[in-house]
Amino acid sequence: MTQPTLFICALCKFPAAESGAGDTPGGQHLLDQLTDCLKAEEITLQPVRCMAACDRACNAALSAPGKLTFIFNDLSPSQSAPDLAEFCRQYAAAANGKVPYGLRSPAIKQATAYVLPPLVAESVEVAIPERSVSRIAH
Ligand code: FES
Repeated sequence: MTQPTLFICALCKFPAAESGAGDTPGGQHLLDQLTDCLKAEEITLQPVRCMAACDRACNAALSAPGKLTFIFNDLSPSQSAPDLAEFCRQYAAAANGKVPYGLRSPAIKQATAYVLPPLVAESVEVAIPERSVSRIAH
């Protein structure tokens, strides 16, 4: 089983209502908190530089092959780490990443912006019409 990856925008700012952490951006602060909450063998933490939702900071996405992808925004840099870490563990344990809604914390329910279906190579090939495939190949 492939380990899930949690992408975090390291450049996201602290929201106006939250006090910052010196020069450290909110996203980097959240990453630092998650590093303390999660073991390296549980999940891959992948910092990214801007996820194009800067006005909804902090932003993150959780994904793994064959599993749903969760996209989160409006995460609190100073308070979201424990809930996010717990959700990552629930996600890793769920066969297709579908953590039952009732088991998700209120913070995760509120921060979940989108849930995308698993990306399966075969379904992508089927979704592309035959002519398009031959055009792409040449
Ligand atoms: S800086 Fe985080 S989404 Fe743009």
